[in-house]
Amino acid sequence: MKLVVTEVRRETTRVMRYVLRPAGGGVLPSFEPGAHVVLHLPLGDGAVVARSYSLLNAPEPGRAVPSYDIGVLLHPRSRGGSSHLHAHVRAGSIVECEPPRNAFALVPHAGAHVLVAGGIGITPLLCMAERLAREHADAVLHYFCHDAEQAAFLADLEALPGVAVHTHFGLSRDDIERRLAGIAMRTPGISNFYVCGPAGFIDAMRRHAADAGHAPSYVHFERFEAAATEDAGAFEVRLDVSGLTLRVPPHQSLLDALLAAGAAVRADCRAGNCGACLVTVQQGEIDHRDDFLLDEDRAEGRLMCACVSRSKSPLLVLQL
Ligand code: FES
Repeated sequence: MKLVVTEVRRETTRVMRYVLRPAGGGVLPSFEPGAHVVLHLPLGDGAVVARSYSLLNAPEPGRAVPSYDIGVLLHPRSRGGSSHLHAHVRAGSIVECEPPRNAFALVPHAGAHVLVAGGIGITPLLCMAERLAREHADAVLHYFCHDAEQAAFLADLEALPGVAVHTHFGLSRDDIERRLAGIAMRTPGISNFYVCGPAGFIDAMRRHAADAGHAPSYVHFERFEAAATEDAGAFEVRLDVSGLTLRVPPHQSLLDALLAAGAAVRADCRAGNCGACLVTVQQGEIDHRDDFLLDEDRAEGRLMCACVSRSKSPLLVLQL
């Protein structure tokens, strides 16, 4: 879809809200809270990168969707997506967008909902909180952030009727752990948790929820898009069928390298959540960084999520 940016609003020094509407007028395909869209962004050197962004605005069920609203954090180690949006996308810009998909949906008719956000992980949870407020559902939201100035969308959250919003700002790592443990302990057993934030934050919430006796199936989580990591090294990939050899530099994902080379791989979340980008490895040692594969899969060492996982060996041979 071609969408036009109709509004750009600064939410914090590092977070911008973009409102996207159909370039030719009309309405957009509907979605449920927790959904994301993938934008295709030209980086200026001819390369186009695809980046996922959670949708902020909760549509009313059964009503047409006039816009897709996204919140974008300018990441200090941006791989191109957030820096392009912040630097070049203005009201009137046209962007290419894939229709919404959802791998992080609310559980219908659940007893209670506990939303736990770390930083910009607030974006899908704001949309969920809006829907839960509209449904008068039993919902509580915990928002962890470095400080109040960096807490995007706080005013939107606090304006929601019926959703108890608790903020946790300026905490040390140990204090965050303690708060997460307390949240898990105080939450009744039949509640559903929805957690979005950095990988370590999600892991901590899952661990504390398990320690407090919550079943893993009640703890739903979504990492936001994988940022470039400092420990990412370059590696080579040989495609077994085409015979092509590619170099994957530190700040490019294997998925982006494969797509740039025209390889037939699929992608959806681009954050290691959904498994859409699985590729089969014939040779080499995988550095798994996803949340999708089971421990058995990892032990077998044949499948990897190309969007986030990398290689521990200098060369990977893929069945492609
Ligand atoms: S695209 Fe979802 S796990 Fe890679």
